[in-house]
Amino acid sequence: MTDRNQENKSNALLLGVMGDPIGHSMSPVMHNIALEAAGLPGMYVPLHVKPEHLAEAVTGAKALGFAGFNVTIPHKVEIMKLLDELDESAISCGAVNTVVIRDGRMKGYNTDGIGYVRSLREEAGELTGRQVTVLGAGGAARGIIYALLKEKVAGITIVNRTVDKAVQLIKELNTSDVVMQTATYEELSQYLPQTDILINTTSIGMHPNVDETPVAAEQIPEGIIVSDLIYNPMETRLLREARTRGCRTVGGLGMFIYQGAYAYEYWTGQDAPVSLMHSAVLEALN
Ligand code: ATR
Repeated sequence: MTDRNQENKSNALLLGVMGDPIGHSMSPVMHNIALEAAGLPGMYVPLHVKPEHLAEAVTGAKALGFAGFNVTIPHKVEIMKLLDELDESAISCGAVNTVVIRDGRMKGYNTDGIGYVRSLREEAGELTGRQVTVLGAGGAARGIIYALLKEKVAGITIVNRTVDKAVQLIKELNTSDVVMQTATYEELSQYLPQTDILINTTSIGMHPNVDETPVAAEQIPEGIIVSDLIYNPMETRLLREARTRGCRTVGGLGMFIYQGAYAYEYWTGQDAPVSLMHSAVLEALN
């Protein structure tokens, strides 16, 4: 990659994450270790920003000379109207998690979906031509489906409790290259045998409801790839049961690491030290 911050070489790179709450964010640990390893002078700080102060905070970051920042809950949608430009990823996902400030202009990106897909590819290999079933049709599903479409998967079945939301999502992200359809949870047994990759984007199985699972163990086809975006707990009941069915599993932590890796690459113009970031987060979580 080219060094996109050549003009700022003499300055320390100011980065951070705006959210409310922000105390438990793992992003500072992950980015500071990456900056240090690359020998880049700079710092990534947690920024506690209440919704009513978001506009002031964004203006302030620009005035202070920040190179960019992440935004997390609850600012991912609101921030969109405060920026000068939106990348296609942000427009398609309807949300921003990464802002790059260059020459006084602020551009918003969404690296969640592409980050997830990069972590999935690491485990699953090429995604082209694969049949994917996505559980859920909310914000997380939107970002992931956007990124899966770019990988030219063969087909995507969206399974959602509220079917209308899945229908709407297909309308908005529609492409002629990939066959997309909706299904209900009751119809899962019909669709799962043709599935190569099953992805849970819902909160079913998330702490503290760790005994819940969106798919009964006996319904999971043997030997497929099963992925869960949840990373608390790191191994959900879905993933545990999938492994007993001989499936390869992909947890949610990789999505967090790789969304950060893409953001780091946008800000610094350099490849992110992904395995170092991963071990720093694991250590901080334990
Ligand atoms: P996120 O940004 O994490 O995707 P969201 O936009 O609130 O959050 O979406 C949550 C998704 O999980 C939705 O698809 C939701 O289904 P509905 O659209 O029917 O609400 C799904 N979800 C959450 N809890 C669920 C449950 N108990 N059973 C089935 N689906 C559930």
